[in-house]
Amino acid sequence: MHISAVVVVDKNEAIGYQNKLLCHLPNDLKRFKQVTMGHHMLMGRKTFESIGKPLPGRTSMVLSTDINLQIEGCNTFSEIEDAIKFAQSHKETELMVIGGGKIFEQLKDRFNKIYYTHIHHAFELADAYFPKYDLSQWKLLEKTACSKDEKNSFDHTFETWEKI
Ligand SMILES: NC(=O)c1ccc[n+]([C@@H]2O[C@H](COP(=O)([O-])OP(=O)(O)OC[C@H]3O[C@@H](n4cnc5c(N)ncnc54)[C@H](OP(=O)(O)O)[C@@H]3O)[C@@H](O)[C@H]2O)c1
Repeated sequence: MHISAVVVVDKNEAIGYQNKLLCHLPNDLKRFKQVTMGHHMLMGRKTFESIGKPLPGRTSMVLSTDINLQIEGCNTFSEIEDAIKFAQSHKETELMVIGGGKIFEQLKDRFNKIYYTHIHHAFELADAYFPKYDLSQWKLLEKTACSKDEKNSFDHTFETWEKI
């Protein structure tokens, strides 16, 4: 099973502030849906709370140290390896790790693929980050640049990288 990260980062790899995304970018939400649809998605408890509900068409897996945590429509885990095994045992071919910072950090050496959305902006306030990668051992599979428009306030670029 491949393990992938799906992330939207600013110029400093910031990903969130006060348990929210840094901005509303409908183009990114569309791409997130497209990339994750049909897959198991692994997230930290805080990211789940910021999303607020299980997303349709995907298997939501939430990590928490609270062993009694139960969330309707989600599978909960207190061990990261148990979550990975769960996806594997359900014949997942590509586990989508969707954040947040704490989860990305722990799995940073396990990703085979990273689906980035780069926002061409540095936000002043941030408290969650994506790990910095040296992408010299990675291959760029796709790159699509999008200009800001009436719905998307920032220029942004989608990039998909695969570990060589
Ligand atoms: N830009 C993006 O692409 C993106 C994506 C996702 C999230 N975000 C943002 O990132 C921020 C949230 O990130 P975060 O780092 O604060 O939190 P997080 O990674 O979403 O969740 C952290 C929580 O996950 C649980 N956890 C982490 N590691 C665990 C382990 N090994 N075993 C069991 N449980 C574990 C713990 O929950 P308990 O406290 O319950 O034990 C921990 O407090 C928000 O601002 C969110 O909007 C951004």
